Amino acid sequence: MPRTLFFLAALASLAVSGAVSAQTASLREAYQPYFLIGAAVNTGNYADENSEDARLIKTHFKVLTPENILKWEALQPHPGQFEFRAADRLVAFAGQNQSHVVGHTLVWHGQTPPWVFAGENGEPPDRDLLLARMRDHINTVLGRYQGRVLGWDVVNEALNEDGTLRDTPWRRAIGDDYIEKAFEYARAADPAAELYYNDYRLEAPAKRAGAVSLVKRLQAAGLRIDAVGIQGHVGLTQPSIAEQEDAIRDFHRLGVRVMITEMDVDVLPGTKGWGDADIRRREAADPAFNPYAQGLPAPMQDALAARYADFFRMYLRNHDKITRVTFWGLNDGDSWLNGFPIPGRTNHPLLFDRQNRAKPAFQAVLDAAQTRDRSDP
Ligand code: XIL
Repeated sequence: MPRTLFFLAALASLAVSGAVSAQTASLREAYQPYFLIGAAVNTGNYADENSEDARLIKTHFKVLTPENILKWEALQPHPGQFEFRAADRLVAFAGQNQSHVVGHTLVWHGQTPPWVFAGENGEPPDRDLLLARMRDHINTVLGRYQGRVLGWDVVNEALNEDGTLRDTPWRRAIGDDYIEKAFEYARAADPAAELYYNDYRLEAPAKRAGAVSLVKRLQAAGLRIDAVGIQGHVGLTQPSIAEQEDAIRDFHRLGVRVMITEMDVDVLPGTKGWGDADIRRREAADPAFNPYAQGLPAPMQDALAARYADFFRMYLRNHDKITRVTFWGLNDGDSWLNGFPIPGRTNHPLLFDRQNRAKPAFQAVLDAAQTRDRSDP
């Protein structure tokens, strides 16, 4: 075959397999006109800056959320003993790579050591004691990373499914205004940082209404909240794109921006109810609920890619409202969904497989940005 023809044929086959764009393209560049693209990362992903994981992070992700190391139990495991080494390392790595860091998370009932919620003589702490602990933690952590963390998930998962406030040790000791106090302390500690409320299943109408009231409450108290984080732990069919789009619009109407903060698409059967990311949830193991231990079959890869394409087309339509979309993990091997809510499964929820190879879902997300009609608003 003449050389030009051979070259064209090779190019066409590469284009079909997506290999050209997967190897040379960058998600963070493709989405640069629209919103930040992020990933949740762990220390192991970038301990060696020349590793394949680190290369993937640098190429595709403009903003990094530590999956665990900025949680209370990691930062202040014992009263007054702060452990900053791992977080310092992440901030340095992000800085070398012109990336941002998101602080996840300050005030949450999860992954917070028992001492925080203990008072004198085995009693719960009183309001003043718990407020003092909250303020001290926020001041110390935000003080250290002032100017180097883009924004903080100030309060995480404060709502029940019916939209009422969750009965957490924070609320029991302090009262409903623990949320206002957290935002007040965070704003004072780092006036330039963005401050967020973050939760799962905010697409569901009752819970979404609860979040809308929460944002209004903060605003009525004169406190600035910059964005609401919709975690975005979704399934292959639920929630509908329309439900999430409605939530994005509802929050934006309040004058705040919206972020998708922990996106993954659970492809496994058996999980009850979409999006319930309560980390204490456990479901019984059953081999029938782990059908893709040997790999995800092509039709499922395509279904996953189509699902990601649907979400990202919707995000692009709403790019004036959205500041960031973050994937909850770098590759399928890293995903928390291998262990949640049923331990020991093999899930495939992200854009890169266990060998860091781009999946059809990666190509779908990339194509969504590259084929977007630029004449759209
Ligand atoms: C998860 C992490 O992915 C796991 O590694 C950890 O064991 C438990 O927490 N909502 C959140 C995240 O806000 O912090 C949770 O992350 C997932 C649900």
